Amino acid sequence: MQPILTIQNISAGYGDVIIVNDVCITVDTGEIVAIVGPNGSGKSTLLKSLLGFARVFQGQVFYQGEEITGVAPYKLIKQGLGYVPQIDNVFPNLTIAENLDMGAYYRKGKETIRKAIGETFDMFPELAARKDYLAGNLSGGERQMLAIARAMMGQPRILLLDEPLASLSPKPTSVILSKLERIEEAGMAILMVEQNVKKALSVSKRGYVLVEGSCAMEGAADSLFSEDDSKQRYLGLDK
Ligand SMILES: Nc1ncnc2c1ncn2[C@@H]1O[C@H](COP(=O)(O)OP(=O)(O)OP(=O)(O)O)[C@@H](O)[C@H]1O
Ligand SMILES: [Mg+2]
Repeated sequence: MQPILTIQNISAGYGDVIIVNDVCITVDTGEIVAIVGPNGSGKSTLLKSLLGFARVFQGQVFYQGEEITGVAPYKLIKQGLGYVPQIDNVFPNLTIAENLDMGAYYRKGKETIRKAIGETFDMFPELAARKDYLAGNLSGGERQMLAIARAMMGQPRILLLDEPLASLSPKPTSVILSKLERIEEAGMAILMVEQNVKKALSVSKRGYVLVEGSCAMEGAADSLFSEDDSKQRYLGLDK
């Protein structure tokens, strides 16, 4: 089976500075893949490089077999890539319903959009109950749910999530993780970047460990947990 996303030997950064170095990642249709790694290891830069928000120095990106390196973000969103940035991922002065409308920007027809909102509220009943609330007044977990829901309004085949669990306490963390599993069951792929190694790998099929911009380890999610203590320390799991 052809991967839905192939990142091939990507080096990326900002200006003349290379942050991400020669990284290769694949995501198959309908699987959750996690990229984990410490602060500043280049996780966000890697995701940004897929959408043209960071400079690509080397390498190629393929989506459903077609090269998309350097393609404009709005075209990628139209083609089915959903992206949730690490910060500023909702419009705080708009309501939940208005944020979702923004997510449907590239979808045509009132009926299509109404149906998409219905499906999104089915998956996120917590948001339906608060649809007229301003996004800026939501809790961290609700805001993260809204950011994911907004990306889903574009009907993506793959979601690129930058730290969906950041700063969340255990309960909202479990809620978000169960949503990700539901999204996977619905047939969408997810490539997620996370510092919360244990939680991210608990719902992922495979994982990659990014250290100082390079891929230090990769493998089945459970294999990254197992084995020797040095590996555990490497992943920060011994804390
Ligand atoms: N817009 C930018 N211009 C220049 N350098 C940047 C920019 N954004 C990030 N960097 C630098 O790139 C490096 C990697 O940052 P990045 O945000 O990709 O790391 P990260 O792994 O996502 O970290 P975190 O876990 O804290 O989100 C850092 O040294 C950072 O200072
Ligand atoms: Mg980051």
